[in-house]
Amino acid sequence: MAAGATLITFDKVWKSYGQGEAKVHALAGVDLAIRRGEFVAIMGPSGSGKSTAMNIIGCLDNLYVGFVFQGYNLLARTTAAENVELPLIYRGVAARERRDLAMQALAEVGLVGREHHTPAELSGGQQQRVAIARAIVTRPTLLVADEPTGNLDTARTHEIMELLTRLNTELGLTIAMVTHEADVADYAERTIRFLDGHVASDSKRLETAQ
Ligand SMILES: Nc1ncnc2c1ncn2[C@@H]1O[C@H](COP(=O)(O)OP(=O)(O)OP(=O)(O)O)[C@@H](O)[C@H]1O
Ligand SMILES: [Mg+2]
Repeated sequence: MAAGATLITFDKVWKSYGQGEAKVHALAGVDLAIRRGEFVAIMGPSGSGKSTAMNIIGCLDNLYVGFVFQGYNLLARTTAAENVELPLIYRGVAARERRDLAMQALAEVGLVGREHHTPAELSGGQQQRVAIARAIVTRPTLLVADEPTGNLDTARTHEIMELLTRLNTELGLTIAMVTHEADVADYAERTIRFLDGHVASDSKRLETAQ
């Protein structure tokens, strides 16, 4: 997706946990900007502040941000459709419309025919698709994904990345995704590297000539 106006700006953001000797600066003056339509990978060592930064973005305004986690975070005894309907219940959408929107979101992630399965009846890749449907059912501007493929095998990882790429290009969804894997980051147009609570590098993918 061609990038548009600035959507998120961090201007020297600090975040610390704990007090006194135990105080940890999870973010120590982070500057970054994400533009509408971008697909950004966030990389960096464990403890460098990636999840902290994503959680701050996610808290900004949950009307515009959809969240996807490494562990799917689906309700266990609840069907795929019901899981996807949840954010609409919080928004007071009527039951009939909720069901229609959930079915549409599940179709967009390739889960037609699985709507009434519970998470235990779905594969890991399918569970992550349900979680992505739940994140996009409210039509957010930004999707934040914290290691969305961290629990998946290589084939499932590439399927999920192809899905995220399609949501970026076809729906214009802005995506900020944390990953430890270079081949996952390669799907993004831009990679921001964190180190000790700072942004250590920020680079755009070089497009190869067609
Ligand atoms: N709730 C918390 N209480 C105290 N310290 C925390 C808390 N959450 C994170 N931290 C600390 O803040 C720092 C940044 O953590 P963060 O979770 O953002 O790292 P990360 O880059 O996402 O790492 P990983 O790749 O392991 O997921 C770490 O030193 C971590 O121990
Ligand atoms: Mg993390």
